Amino acid sequence: MDFLNDARFLGIKPFKEKVWLSSPTMHGEEQKWVDEAILTNWVSTVGENIDAVERQLAEYIGVKYAVGLANGTSALHLATKLAAEKIYGRTLPNEGTLKGRRVLCSDLTFAASINPVAYEDGEAIFIDTEKDTWNMDPKALRKAFELYPDVKLVVIAHLYGVPGKMQELKAICDEHNALIVEDAAESLGAKYKLDGQWVETGSLGNFNCISFNGNKIITGSSGGLFLTNSKEDADKIRKWSTQSRELAPWYQHEEIGYNYRMSNIIAGVIRGQIPYLDEHISQKRAIWERYAKGLADLPVKMNPWDKENSIPNFWLSCLIIDEDALAFMERGNTDYNYKHEDGKSSPQEILEAITAINAEGRPIWKPMHMQPIYKNNIFIKESQLDVGADIFNRGLCLPSDNKMTPEQQDIIIDVIHRCFK
Ligand SMILES: Cc1ncc(COP(=O)(O)O)c(C=O)c1O
Repeated sequence: MDFLNDARFLGIKPFKEKVWLSSPTMHGEEQKWVDEAILTNWVSTVGENIDAVERQLAEYIGVKYAVGLANGTSALHLATKLAAEKIYGRTLPNEGTLKGRRVLCSDLTFAASINPVAYEDGEAIFIDTEKDTWNMDPKALRKAFELYPDVKLVVIAHLYGVPGKMQELKAICDEHNALIVEDAAESLGAKYKLDGQWVETGSLGNFNCISFNGNKIITGSSGGLFLTNSKEDADKIRKWSTQSRELAPWYQHEEIGYNYRMSNIIAGVIRGQIPYLDEHISQKRAIWERYAKGLADLPVKMNPWDKENSIPNFWLSCLIIDEDALAFMERGNTDYNYKHEDGKSSPQEILEAITAINAEGRPIWKPMHMQPIYKNNIFIKESQLDVGADIFNRGLCLPSDNKMTPEQQDIIIDVIHRCFK
């Protein structure tokens, strides 16, 4: 649709500078640490920046050890492999540690959360989402354990910076002696009340991961962390991530290795960002609140969270359209179609309108059980309704960049109103 020539959008002009979904926000200190690494010749996968990032974030998150890795995906791969090895033992070098095993996984998330199950030859079973936080539904998890009592590993992601219901999810995993890989890639700085104590996401599983991808709450352009209270686990991940060299005078290998360690240059960028984490979170929170206020008169809701037991980092602001205000929209594998209906709108219409004004929105992650690659995997839902598919069909991520001005955000809010005219 040609939005800017449509009567509903009269007078709306595209932004001169693009308003991004969530782009890097540099403060200057990053340059200092990167320069220092270069000037002192620590241009490698060892150096003070890595040490500082590991030390400072382990302290912030409240765990004993952090291991700097190339990205969140490699952290999740090694976390999943370590969990599997602990549960099932070591396999042959040419066999994944999850061969012939099933793993219960978050369904509404980015594929990177759960692909490591396949890297390790395992079978992911996808667990549906609950409406209160858009994360793994404890009731569906309980049902999955009833159907598959042998499962010993669960991968849980926190969507868009909103913690899942970890108290319930952990209790169910404990009942079944199952270990948890926590994917806190999107939720660094989000807090959760566990057993009455406020703790950070990234400390809630048995093996925990975060990401510093360019769009995350703080970034190094890339980078990730594995977080743990176990020295033995931290040492193992560090060893695997540096090609599994044994302590020997030559290259000696008893285990399969990876080149997954964080670079000291990337770590310099992250080190410069750490002092601004809390500032970024409050900026993101203000964005979420401005949307909530500005959209309150429309038939939409903002992405929810458990207000009693969690404080999100508000990484992305999202909305979901009320069922009776959803206009016709259909999605194929790579294409879509929608019709405007008076007083209604659809995610694809709103996303197109946002694009037309030179801003960036994004569809909700397409649930894993709807992905062609995982179409033969088992999907467990709690009731008739497929909650993940419903959120995908009615929801979208709004421009959530912390450099967006209130005036720009007001224009986006205005444009969304016009979509419902
Ligand atoms: C939920 C989730 N898991 C994992 C990842 C992977 O992190 P990375 O891009 O650092 O590999 C991301 C983001 O990219 C993510 O959003």
